[in-house]
Amino acid sequence: MDGLSEWPEHIVRVQTLSESGAALIPPRYIKPPADRPSPSSSSSSSDAGEPNIPIIDLNPARRASAASAVSAACRDWGFFQAVNHGVSSDLMRRSSDAWRAFFHLPMVDKLPYANSPATYEGYGSRLGVDKAAILDWGDYFFLHFYPLCLKSHAKWPALPPSLRGTVEEYGREVTELCRRVMGLLSLGLGLEERRLQEAFGGEDAGVCMRVNYYPRCPQPELTLGLSAHSDPGGITVLLPDGEVKGLQVRRGGGWVTVQPMADAFIINVGDQVQILSNAIYRSVEHRVAVNLEAERLSMAFFYNPKSDLPIGPLPELVGPTRPALYQSMTFDEYRLYIRKRGPRGKSQVKSLKTI
Ligand code: OGA
Ligand code: NI
Repeated sequence: MDGLSEWPEHIVRVQTLSESGAALIPPRYIKPPADRPSPSSSSSSSDAGEPNIPIIDLNPARRASAASAVSAACRDWGFFQAVNHGVSSDLMRRSSDAWRAFFHLPMVDKLPYANSPATYEGYGSRLGVDKAAILDWGDYFFLHFYPLCLKSHAKWPALPPSLRGTVEEYGREVTELCRRVMGLLSLGLGLEERRLQEAFGGEDAGVCMRVNYYPRCPQPELTLGLSAHSDPGGITVLLPDGEVKGLQVRRGGGWVTVQPMADAFIINVGDQVQILSNAIYRSVEHRVAVNLEAERLSMAFFYNPKSDLPIGPLPELVGPTRPALYQSMTFDEYRLYIRKRGPRGKSQVKSLKTI
């Protein structure tokens, strides 16, 4: 696919670097000073008074108030934390435990799943094929749930033995949650509940997941686990590490470190929902800081438009006072840009603007 079949150079697993015990990180991982995490935003242990993303109760019995809270959060922050979201905390814990066990397996058990930039499916250690790129301090595993032609249990880790069944169950439950959030986002735009879901292709919306594994880092002040980016897809449901902070969200000129709540999901708007909503909802940049003391594991679940549908501003949201801000493009076309270049802030959605 467009010359993206191989990585431009030998892949080094960040976990291997971390476990080597070296006191210095290789120069390839050192970010320019302006991109490094500021000590104040990543290490504060007293959280009192720090701004945090809105916390929203998704209990179906309070749908109208949930819709207005989700709408306000997605216009302002682009992010919220969801409680009472309907996914059992036991399933959340079993899923993250299974993935942690996978990343803790010996390298020989993980390397058969090594990925390529053609599809990104499997065990990976970089995003983008730009040979000169500065790399991020993280490994990951990427897999598909839907469409079924892309889903293959054989590509999912065989170990630990519980993983495939647990991931299957997790995929089903979190897909349900995504559909409900799409309904709330539609209501929050004054549209019929199914509107955004239909724009995504109805039942044919794409579903995939990236599990991020950020090993301990000897020089966390010089690098990032994941560079600043906005999510290219529709919406993202993130299960953050229960113990270790790291996710930072762009707010004004600075970065806010998210304080995860127990059993909550962090949900954010991606570029496709920003485009469909004609920029009423915002796909906000975020990044991940790493640390010296503890590894961090997060599960990012992506809910995307069917990949061959043109996605542009919904006609209901375009009018004389609010012209269409974007041209239509399929998600397949859109994603190719990011697969080549890796995480680059919001450069793509900006370049799409027609005015
Ligand atoms: C992502 C992402 C955040 C995290 O995978 O797109 O933003 O906390 N992850 O790992
Ligand atoms: Ni992201």
